[in-house]
Amino acid sequence: MSEPLHWVEIDHGALAHNVRALRQILGGAELWAVIKAQAYGHGPVETARTVLNAGASGLIVAVVDEAVELRAAGVDAPILVLTPPLPDQLDAYAVHDLIAAVADDATARALAAAGARRGRPIPVHLKVDTGMGRLGVLPEQAVALVEAWHDLEGLQLAGIFTHMAAADEEDLTSAREQLARFGAVLSALDRRGLRPPVVHAANSAGAIVLPESRYTMARVGVALYGIAPSPVVAARAAQLGLELRPALAFRARIVATRRLPAGWPISYGSTYVTPTETTVATLPVGYADGLSRSLSHKMYALVRGHKRPIIGRICMNHCMVDVGDLPVRPGDVVTLLGADGGGAITAEDWALALGTIPYEIVCMVGSRNPRRHLLSATTAAS
Ligand SMILES: Cc1ncc(COP(=O)(O)O)c(C=O)c1O
Repeated sequence: MSEPLHWVEIDHGALAHNVRALRQILGGAELWAVIKAQAYGHGPVETARTVLNAGASGLIVAVVDEAVELRAAGVDAPILVLTPPLPDQLDAYAVHDLIAAVADDATARALAAAGARRGRPIPVHLKVDTGMGRLGVLPEQAVALVEAWHDLEGLQLAGIFTHMAAADEEDLTSAREQLARFGAVLSALDRRGLRPPVVHAANSAGAIVLPESRYTMARVGVALYGIAPSPVVAARAAQLGLELRPALAFRARIVATRRLPAGWPISYGSTYVTPTETTVATLPVGYADGLSRSLSHKMYALVRGHKRPIIGRICMNHCMVDVGDLPVRPGDVVTLLGADGGGAITAEDWALALGTIPYEIVCMVGSRNPRRHLLSATTAAS
């Protein structure tokens, strides 16, 4: 096998640093690492190992198959599955010792039956919808469910949680309203002596900007990967002295360099014409590899540490970069995302150009390219 032509590089030193830095601001709350969607493109099994070694207390995935993949790889940490189980998935929770997120009585009872059959209660966290409008029981129905479940054989009501829709915004009114609704449920449970031991509400944004959302644990996703959820949260992180280090870089090897005359059209539709004689490098990366066609005419690559424009339309498997008079050769490595020399192109830069959020960028690029894991320095002090 030859060397790959393009790849994402995962810096595990950065992942470990981010876990340690985030734990410092969390105080006594545990950090649970959200590693759904291929660990936001960073590779779930390798990421799991690094974040657990660096101090994460548990793992969080979106769907049960992701948890099964981690167990098959030998990961034995606690795993919370965010999507409530469907009937055909119940046994997997018992077999693989998973924590279920549940918000309805029928599912809880079916899980309890599965737990009882195996002689091992299945831990569940009750999901309360305080204003995200996606999953969960409404706040006024939560107490009744806890009362109904707390002594159910085969079920262990281990936790209760909610998810904030807008903790990453300038205006935190709605996030605080959600926390107030959640707080009212917790108070009602306290009056009955029924509060489950584990309580959580914070995502990355909540963990950073809303100390009152931290409860006993925070579900940290994007910040683990060195990305702030939004510019407002980035500013707050800076005030707190929290330095997040991006962990993913996207690199490719030049496959051709050509000296082209002024006036030469580049790529489909000839939307770009060289203004002067220049060297054009062709990269073996296109929209099939996550370099969205909508980045055409808007993005740069780092060539020997210099920002050089991607010119013409991005093709399915190729793109062209105007490298000017830089001395480059086929085989040289170019950076599409990440740091190189003194320069850096961030997931935020791509997101801005594409009108999306950096979450989508790392998922898109990280899941479509071979991964190289840089494992050295994961244990170095940060
Ligand atoms: C329920 C839940 N909790 C936590 C997270 C992590 O969010 P973030 O990546 O913003 O930290 C997510 C991510 O989508 C989520 O769906």
